[in-house]
Amino acid sequence: MLMNQDDLKKLVAQAAIDYVMPRIQTGEILGIGTGTTANCFIEMLGAYKHAFAGTVASSNASETRLRQQGITVLDLNEVDRIVFYVDGADESNHNLQLIKGGGAALTREKIVTACSDTFVCIADESKWVSTLGKFPLPVEVIPMAREYVARELRKLGGEPIHRAGIVTDNGCDILDVHGLKISDPVTLESQINHITGVVTNGLFARRAADVLLLGTQSGVEIVRP
Ligand code: A5P
Repeated sequence: MLMNQDDLKKLVAQAAIDYVMPRIQTGEILGIGTGTTANCFIEMLGAYKHAFAGTVASSNASETRLRQQGITVLDLNEVDRIVFYVDGADESNHNLQLIKGGGAALTREKIVTACSDTFVCIADESKWVSTLGKFPLPVEVIPMAREYVARELRKLGGEPIHRAGIVTDNGCDILDVHGLKISDPVTLESQINHITGVVTNGLFARRAADVLLLGTQSGVEIVRP
């Protein structure tokens, strides 16, 4: 029987448990992502809460879910080292460069990724693409700079749309940039981050995932760049 997208999300969440748990020590810290796939992982993680020291969450929403499971959540500033970061993605190319931020948590996700030894990405096969950009690229902006940043993004060939009614955990706005064919993700990530007023953008290319657990109809593939 064919698995639907929710089944595949649960499958890759279980695969992340199977990947991370044998490799983590009791004193170590896990980074936790945001979104529906990460939520499946959080639900399963409750059963293992004594196997590690605690977590750092990439959003207020994930922090709440972790606490509901009785899992310790720490402030990133109290933590020296995160061994694994587990999170979903909106798109992954074959180099494991990602688009993230569909859930508006991209900046904190990028910060926790930067602090982590290994980024384990979990995604169903609908996220696997040869070229990034079909999914509109989220860009977090300081609210007063929104229209200025939008004009600059148009110069780069994109069509930014303000995500109405969304304020990020950092009190900022999101522009979703449509119509980009991202042939050089590393360069575009830097170009967008250099626009004054941009907090960060959802390209995870300079720091891509280290391993992708990809949920397919024939099981979970472990993909490395
Ligand atoms: C959250 O801001 C995002 O980066 C998510 O990781 C991404 O949108 C994937 O979400 P789903 O697991 O809900 O598809």
